[in-house]
Amino acid sequence: MTDRVEKAAGPGNGAPAAEARRALPERIFLIGFMGSGKTTVGLALSRITGYKYIDMDSVIEEDEGMTIRDIFIKRGEHDFRNRESRLLDKLCEKSGIVVSCGGGIIHDALNIEKLQECGPAVFLNGDVSLLFDRVKNDSNRPFAYLDIADEQIRFNKFADLLEKRKNLYKDAAAMTVDITGKTPEALAAEIFNYFK
Ligand code: S3P
Repeated sequence: MTDRVEKAAGPGNGAPAAEARRALPERIFLIGFMGSGKTTVGLALSRITGYKYIDMDSVIEEDEGMTIRDIFIKRGEHDFRNRESRLLDKLCEKSGIVVSCGGGIIHDALNIEKLQECGPAVFLNGDVSLLFDRVKNDSNRPFAYLDIADEQIRFNKFADLLEKRKNLYKDAAAMTVDITGKTPEALAAEIFNYFK
């Protein structure tokens, strides 16, 4: 991991009173499917808490010097998952951080245990159509299945994957929030108020 983790977003203008900060967990992990807003909510939450913001996918991309898509193509998913797990170990040693995890972090049962132990993790839960709409044209997301021409087939595969993962997200999470109709700022406030 480069020092990118160290230089990530510092305290924002909305940093809370010291009293509220003291009760906050040392690390908050955001988990959920692609398109659930982990990045935007994570940034908003880092502003409210004054915690550093870390995007696991971005750290891996920077460390490897290539995009997620290229890591999947050139090294394979297994290699990406190993990197993800190793990064999670390192983040568990840090404090004062808000982390957005890649959508597949819960593939590994050990990662679920780690999130339970060094989290809390918050599951951003949303309707599959909304999530698909948000990511369906993103070529950097291997699981947007852009190689499949038929959009209905792509949607079905996307929805199947979400269905397989939903209970794993719930297992890993200490809190589940419904993202429907809420801004990133409102979601961040909901999470902050729950843990403070
Ligand atoms: C993945 C989600 C991606 C990224 C990688 C694998 C997944 O992160 O980690 O493409 O398995 O769902 P986002 O959830 O930020 O898109």
